[in-house]
Amino acid sequence: MAFLNDNYFKLKAGYLFPEIGRRVKAFGEANPEAAKRIIRCGIGDVTEPLPAAVTAAMHKAVDDMATREQFHGYGPEQGYEWLRQAIAEHDYRAKGIEVAADEIFVSDGSKCDCGNILDILGSQNKVAITDPVYPVYVDTNVMAGHTGEADESGAYAGLVYLKCTAENGFVAEPPKEHVDVIYLCFPNNPTGAVATRAQLEAWVAYAKEHQSVILYDAAYEAYISDPAVPHSIYEIPGAREVAIEFRSFSKNGGFTGTRCAFIVVPKTLLASTAKGEHKPLHPLWARRHTTKFNGVSYVVQRGAEAIYTPEGKQQVKALLDHYMGNAKILREAAAAVGLRVYGGVNAPYIWVSTPAGTTSWQMFDRMLNEANVVITPGSGFGAMGEGYFRISAFNSRANAEEVARRMKAIQW
Ligand code: MLT
Repeated sequence: MAFLNDNYFKLKAGYLFPEIGRRVKAFGEANPEAAKRIIRCGIGDVTEPLPAAVTAAMHKAVDDMATREQFHGYGPEQGYEWLRQAIAEHDYRAKGIEVAADEIFVSDGSKCDCGNILDILGSQNKVAITDPVYPVYVDTNVMAGHTGEADESGAYAGLVYLKCTAENGFVAEPPKEHVDVIYLCFPNNPTGAVATRAQLEAWVAYAKEHQSVILYDAAYEAYISDPAVPHSIYEIPGAREVAIEFRSFSKNGGFTGTRCAFIVVPKTLLASTAKGEHKPLHPLWARRHTTKFNGVSYVVQRGAEAIYTPEGKQQVKALLDHYMGNAKILREAAAAVGLRVYGGVNAPYIWVSTPAGTTSWQMFDRMLNEANVVITPGSGFGAMGEGYFRISAFNSRANAEEVARRMKAIQW
């Protein structure tokens, strides 16, 4: 008989969002009337339609596919040159950041990229993650066999957990010990925290000293409103030698259902072979990407390209303003009922302390039962998330306002 990948048996119950979905479904079956009122502020999935510039470009691309002359079969696995050039120009060069088009790899999502990157990193690496954390970083390391079993708190043996608390503003400092790979996410999912330039400089200095690789997830960078906060890790001198950056069109252009993202692997980023030779990661990622992936569809890449047109930029800004308007309403509502509120200023997530004595899952149940609102329990993001819950601002304005009303109607 063939053998299974036993590492999967180390994984905890289920991936957080399917687990929430399961509980909401069970609630709906038991309470069919209340189920009709449910408002979902759990998973961070966009609700507003794609920008008009994007859909126009996609329509045109569909028409292209209907003609012999403009038909596109397999594209370059790394992404079409015109999209890679547009990304390099608008997201980096125009902002004075050095990233070349051939260091950009277009993909079908940051979640996939975050997991897939492990293909080119050795299993002997000591991996650090923050706590709370986007669960994909942890689970993909478990699946790849980079951890031992989880203890009672859910912490996996072998991972280094960097505690993020209200005291450190939910931004971890570099550890005292040596780690080889570090996952950082700013603006942060789930806490909504952002790192200052000085904090990122400390991380780059640590990575240089320890010859570590930073996996920098910047999927929410478009939500940064504070002009002093860096959007890219490459704004920090030296980061090209230590960091890979993950970016997505999901949360700025609303591509969660359309799928398009990219990662930047600078050619100057090196890591060690088992024999101790220092080699660039770029050719390994190019090899991995071209072997295991056949590229994002032509139609979707044309849509992504349209985000960089003047109309596209304007329409994306309107989307961001819409979601951040929701964030303000939700932040203020949580604060008005006496809860301690974090995030929601440079990120579409609001991170809220539960009332004393209430666990994250108890809060989830209360919000579902008493307000018919789905939130995400903080403990689903790690032990340090216990005592918090996350409200997603991805919703219609009417729903955000209704959630605010219902929160105020709960007996806190
Ligand atoms: C979330 O709710 O944390 C997001 O949906 C994460 C993701 O984009 O995968």
